[in-house]
Amino acid sequence: VSTVVETDVLIVGSGPAGASAALALSTYGVPNIVVTRYASLADTPRAHITNQRTMEVLRDLGVEQEVVAQATPQHLMGNTTFCTSLAGEELGRVRSWGNDPLVQAEHELASPTRMCDMPQHLMEPVLVNAAVARGTGLRFQNEYLSHTQDADGVTATVRDRLRGDTYEIRAKYLIGADGGRSKVAADAGLPMGGQMGVAGSINIVFEADLSRYTAHRPSTLYWVLAPGATVGGIGAGLVRCVRPWNEWLIVWGYDVNAGAPDLTTEYAESVVRALVGDDDIPVTVKSSSAWTVNEMYAETYAGGRVFCAGDAVHRHPPSNGLGSNTSIQDAYNLAWKLKLVLDGTAHPRLLDSYTAERAPVGRQIVTRANRSIRETAPVFKALDGLSPQTPEQLWANIAARKDATEAAEKQRARLREAIAFKVYEFNAHGVDLNQRYDAGDSAAIVPDGTPDPGFARDSELYHQPSSRPGARLPHAWITSGTRTLSTIDTIGRGRFTLLTGIGGEAWVRAAEAQEVEIATVVIGPGQQYEDPYGDWARLREIPDAGALLVRPDGFVAFRQASAGPDAEELLADALRRILGHA
Ligand code: FDA
Repeated sequence: VSTVVETDVLIVGSGPAGASAALALSTYGVPNIVVTRYASLADTPRAHITNQRTMEVLRDLGVEQEVVAQATPQHLMGNTTFCTSLAGEELGRVRSWGNDPLVQAEHELASPTRMCDMPQHLMEPVLVNAAVARGTGLRFQNEYLSHTQDADGVTATVRDRLRGDTYEIRAKYLIGADGGRSKVAADAGLPMGGQMGVAGSINIVFEADLSRYTAHRPSTLYWVLAPGATVGGIGAGLVRCVRPWNEWLIVWGYDVNAGAPDLTTEYAESVVRALVGDDDIPVTVKSSSAWTVNEMYAETYAGGRVFCAGDAVHRHPPSNGLGSNTSIQDAYNLAWKLKLVLDGTAHPRLLDSYTAERAPVGRQIVTRANRSIRETAPVFKALDGLSPQTPEQLWANIAARKDATEAAEKQRARLREAIAFKVYEFNAHGVDLNQRYDAGDSAAIVPDGTPDPGFARDSELYHQPSSRPGARLPHAWITSGTRTLSTIDTIGRGRFTLLTGIGGEAWVRAAEAQEVEIATVVIGPGQQYEDPYGDWARLREIPDAGALLVRPDGFVAFRQASAGPDAEELLADALRRILGHA
C-alpha cells in the first residue's frame, strides 16, 4: 500500500544546496522534508573554500560560529605554491584567499565575516544538524524516482531503500538539489547548455604528516608540475590540505577518452608518492574516486513548481572554489521567496525572479572556473612543459631557469607572470562578492533610475560595494550603545529591512504601515544605531533622509534619495512589484 506523506517543500539531496535550503526554510518556519539517497552525508572532503558571502549567509542562519570553530582559518590558507613535488623544487607562490596584505584589507572592509576552509564532509553536518533541530524531516536512504505536478502541488515518488518499497510525498514545491547528475532537473526538462566530461579527474584522500613541507608556507593548495600533470584534470596535479597538516586530498588528471585508471591502493599510493616526493613519509590512502570536469549550466532553474539549485543547474570544476558557495547562495535566494509565497504574502510570480537572478550567476561561475583551468597552462608554457617530452626534458627545462643567461632571465619573468596571473583563481574577491541582480531581468529589484556607474576596478578581482538596487547591502561597522555590529547584522532573519537616517521618519512610518513585516533601522547621531566612524555615510550612496529596502537575502531591492509625503505610496508600489502583485 502506497503511503502519502505531505509537506510544504520537498528537497531532494542533502549536499550544500539541499542542506542549506532546508536550514533556511526551517529557520523561516516553513515545513520541509529532505530525501537523500545514501545512509550518510558526504563522506569525502569535496568542496572546501568558503567565501565571505557564504559566511554572511551562514551568519544570518545562525551557524557561522560553528563553521569557524571547525574550519581551517584564513591565515593558514594562503600560500598557493607551485612546485615539482612537495619535497621538490618550489617554482613560486601566490598569496591567496585574502592573504595578500592589500587584499586582506579589502576582505576586512568588505564583510564582518572571514573566508575559511570548511571541507564538505564537515560543512554538511553543521547545516543538516541545524536544519533538523529547527524542524526539517530528514530521510536518509530515500531516493527520488520521479515526480508529477498539477496546479496545487507536486507529487514525488520515492524509494525507501531500507524498506525496499516506494511511496509518495506530496508537496507544494519541490527543490531539486540532487547534484551534477540531477534527475529532478532532467525530469523537469530544464535545458542545459555546455558539456559534461570535459576532462577526467581522480580524488585521492590520504593521511600523512606533511608538516615539514607545508608548515613554513601554510596553504590550502599546493600545485605540482610533474610529468603527466597536464593530462586531464584541473590543469596540474593538486595536493590539497583537508586538515593541517596530516589529512590531504590529491586531485590528479586522467585522459577522459581513455577512461579512468583502475583505482587500486597501489595506483593511489604511486600518485601520492609522485606528488609528495618523499618516500620515507608514511602514507595511508583512505579513498580514491574518479570524477569528470564539466562545463554546463541551465538557462532556466525552474519548471512550474520545481526549482533546482546547486550542481543540478551549474556544473564546473573546483577552480576558484565556487561549487558549494554558489549552491548555498542559490538556496538562500530561493528560500525566502518560497516562504513569502507559501504564507500568502507574495504572488507566485515572485518565484520567477529565482531564475532571473541566479541563472546569470551560474553562467558566470561556470565560465570563470573553466577559464581558471586554462590559465594554468602558461605556468607550464613558461617551463616549455606543454609539448610532449620525457620527464628528463621537463626536469631539464625546470632546471634551466636557474641559468645566468638572457634566455633564462626571460623564462624566470614568464614564470613569475604566469604564477602571479593565477590571482584570478586564488584571490578573486570580486567574483565572490560582486554579484548583482539586474532590475531588467528580475521584478524583485526596483530600478531607481540612476545610471549604473559600472566597476572602477577589475570586477573579478576587486569587490566594489554599492547600495544600488540589485547589489548586496554594503557592510559597515555601526554601533548600538556599547555594541559594535555590522549593517549586515541588522538585516536578514527572513524579513525585509528598511534602512534610513535622520530626516527619514516618513520611511519608518511607511515601513510600519505595510502589511508585510519590515524591520526598520535608523542610523545617525542619537538614533537606534550610530555611525561613529562615518563608514556607513561613505558607503550608503544616499543622503541621510534617503532609504534602502533590503530583501531577506541581503540584496537591496529599492532605493530612494529623500523622504517625502509620498514615501508610503512609493514603498507600497515597490513592494507590489517585488512581491509579484503588480
Ligand atoms: P551535491 O552533489 O553535493 O549533493 C547532491 C545530493 O543529492 C547528495 O546528498 C546526493 O546523495 C543526493 N541525491 C542525488 N540523487 C538523488 C536522488 N535521486 N534521490 C535522493 N537524493 C539524491 N568542489 C570543490 O570546490 N572542490 C573539490 O575538490 C570538489 N571535489 C569533489 C569531489 C567529488 C567526488 C564530488 C562529487 C564533487 C566535488 N566537488 C568539489 C563539487 C562540490 O562537491 C559541489 O559543487 C557541491 O557539493 C554542490 O552541492 P550540491 O548540494 O548542489 O550537490
